[in-house]
Amino acid sequence: MIGRLNHVAIAVPDLKVAIAAYRDVLGADVSEPSALPEHGVTVSFVTLPNTKVELLEPLGGKSPILSFLEKNRNGGIHHLCFEVSDIEAALEKMTAEGKRVLGKVRTGAHGRPVVFVHPGDFQGTLIELEQV
Ligand code: CO
Repeated sequence: MIGRLNHVAIAVPDLKVAIAAYRDVLGADVSEPSALPEHGVTVSFVTLPNTKVELLEPLGGKSPILSFLEKNRNGGIHHLCFEVSDIEAALEKMTAEGKRVLGKVRTGAHGRPVVFVHPGDFQGTLIELEQV
C-alpha cells in the first residue's frame, strides 16, 4: 500500500542550529524557515536526492511537538511520512486492522491530505500517510 518515503520529520528545539548543521556541516540543500501557525510549527525542508528531511521547531503554546521535545530535549525523529495513492482507502485499512488513527484526514504541511497513525501501533514510530 505505501509507496515512497516522503519525508523524515525531526523535531528540533532550535531551528537555526539545525539548519546550520544540515546546510553548513552536511552540505545539504535547506530551505528558509517557513512558519505554519495552523500546524503549530516552523519548518525547513532539507531536500535530498531520494527524500526529504523536515526540521520542525515548535510555534506557539499549543504546538503538537512541544510534549515530544519535553521528553527529547535535544530533539529527535518525530515521524516518518509514507506516500499513499488513496488516503481514504488507507484510513479504512488502518481502522480495519485495528490501528489507532489520530484525528481525521486533514491538510498537511505540503497542502495534501494526510492522516497520522499512533506510534504504539507501529513499533514506537508515529506514522504519517500522505496522499500524493
Ligand atoms: Co510530516
